[in-house]
Amino acid sequence: MVKGIDLYVDERTLLGVGDDAGVYAYGGQVFVHTVDFITPILNDPYLWGAISTANSLSDVYAMGCKPLNALAIVGFNNCDLEIDVLKEVMRGCADKLREARTVLLGGHTVDDKEPKFGLAVMGVCENGRYFTQEGAKPGDLIALTKPVGVGVLTKGIKEGKISERDIGDAIGYMLMLNEKASELAKAVEASACTDVTGFGLLGHSMNIATKSKVRLAIDFSKVPIYEESVFLIRQKIYPKGALDNYNFVRDRTLNEGLEWWQVLLLADPVTSGGLLFTFPEDKEETFKKEAENLGLRVWVIGKVEEGEGLRVYVS
Ligand code: CO
Ligand code: CO
Ligand code: CO
Repeated sequence: MVKGIDLYVDERTLLGVGDDAGVYAYGGQVFVHTVDFITPILNDPYLWGAISTANSLSDVYAMGCKPLNALAIVGFNNCDLEIDVLKEVMRGCADKLREARTVLLGGHTVDDKEPKFGLAVMGVCENGRYFTQEGAKPGDLIALTKPVGVGVLTKGIKEGKISERDIGDAIGYMLMLNEKASELAKAVEASACTDVTGFGLLGHSMNIATKSKVRLAIDFSKVPIYEESVFLIRQKIYPKGALDNYNFVRDRTLNEGLEWWQVLLLADPVTSGGLLFTFPEDKEETFKKEAENLGLRVWVIGKVEEGEGLRVYVS
């Protein structure tokens, strides 16, 4: 995004551009900052507002931190859409922020033919600790906390192949805050952590692999996937982003036996996806127990290896 541009940084900048959020120290405290906004993914404005809010908060949780406050970013054209629509979006946002105990301090609206909604969020890192994408080690296990296939499902809705009623599971997951997932990552002392969003599971896994200088081996049969997305993608219904994401990782991904639709599903762009983190193998029992205590469904989808890039296979 800013390659080749000389940005000003100061001694309080602990982590600049490039991770899920920037990290900044001030007055003995460590803070994270992040911004995210999305175009409508569902027809229901309340759900869109709530999902976009969960999505914007997610980067704070991916850093293992706690959101404190937020600013809204709105693109809206009140000739095309009733103001009541925006009110519903904000109602969805307000409910999610209350759940996350996060204060809305303000925001900014621009006239925009293509509606957009999101938040800039500020969070605090308790005890000054935060996750990065850099610490994954060979032997670590790879955890994922929400299924993939959302991009395919929303494409299916746009093409009239399925309706919003058919994707209740996915809507439930998109609405879910990554707060508990973040607690779990802390409980198992995650070595690297990120959230799965626009670059898909493969793109975000590649980020960890690159930054940690390891290889992430992902077992397709262990990855949670929405059933309807399998049905749709086999009929070649998928967003262009899935192909773009796959092309982006292709050269550095060893594909051991996955069919075209299987790799594309792993590369499918996700909105408000789960956390993806690596953790020491000897913490597997803690991982299971903590997940159960938190009432969180989680999946171990593979293992970190020596090497670089990704390896995808079917066990
Ligand atoms: Co992120
Ligand atoms: Co982000
Ligand atoms: Co303003």
